[in-house]
Amino acid sequence: MKLKPIFTICTVAGFLAINSSAMAAGDASKGEKLAKKCQACHTLTEGGKNRLGPNLFGILNQPAGKVAGYKYSKAMAASGLIWDPATFSDFVAKPKKVVKRTKMSFAGLKKATQRADLLAYFETLRGANSAKIAVGNAEDGKTVATKHCIVCHSFEKGGKVVFGPNLFDMAGKPAAAIAGFKYSDALKNSGLTWTDNNLVGFLADPEQFLKGTTARFPGLKSAKDKADILAYMKTLK
Ligand code: HEC
Ligand code: HEC
Repeated sequence: MKLKPIFTICTVAGFLAINSSAMAAGDASKGEKLAKKCQACHTLTEGGKNRLGPNLFGILNQPAGKVAGYKYSKAMAASGLIWDPATFSDFVAKPKKVVKRTKMSFAGLKKATQRADLLAYFETLRGANSAKIAVGNAEDGKTVATKHCIVCHSFEKGGKVVFGPNLFDMAGKPAAAIAGFKYSDALKNSGLTWTDNNLVGFLADPEQFLKGTTARFPGLKSAKDKADILAYMKTLK
């Protein structure tokens, strides 16, 4: 029988794929299809609305329970989890096993291969791949800093701590890492990295973005100001 060897090879290959899937790299395009299941309750685009569940753009490696404007269960809000790949994958496999009293009623994706695919897709949902934050003008951003930030922050290399930490080379860096500044517990424990997304979210409304932050700053309302300050901060290296 001619077909038999081919069949055997396929079976073996399939078997190996399944067995190595625990940490195997997933297929993002398959993951995108699987993510349709999530979209019953979640938007996945940057700045998407919260629905029954919170917007999930850029959720990987972020602390749980922190999407602005979303009312979490107490269990999720107090979970202290970070959505690193392993935690995310476990949660998606069986939400209630990871956060016992979560209000996410989703049966779970049982197949490890599917979770790996989904994870690969979620990896693509982050600021750097998004065109949604307009490209700002660094010169104008400097003016925004002068107007809105320098009462509390210095921006030059080695600048002083004023009411807030020095902001030289902050873009892309982990939060709450400036030695000698006394951060709020909220920021210290946030696990945040100052990605484009997080910076813009924080600067739009610090208190809403991170409950308990001591950055008493009402926030930048104009999208242009936010894009400009981001562009300016990225020049400070
Ligand atoms: C039936 C609606 C529903 C579906 C389907 C659903 N979720 Fe959720 N999800 C929720 C709700 C509600 C919450 C808030 C949970 C809480 O506060 O306890 C949530 C929370 C989350 C969180 C935590 C977010 C944060 O800000 O900490 C992640 C991660 C998540 N969902 C991922 C997924 C993924 C991935 C899928 C698809 C495989 C999915 N969800 C499908 C309703 C859903
Ligand atoms: C009224 C004072 C004040 C103003 C105005 C202010 N900030 Fe802050 N900022 C703070 C404080 C205080 C913190 C520390 C917050 C904490 O620990 O929770 C902080 C923290 C930050 C952080 C996090 C730093 C880190 O090390 O993780 C960034 C980024 C930031 N501010 C940017 C800005 C920018 C940009 C502006 C102007 C658009 C601004 N802030 C305006 C007081 C201020």
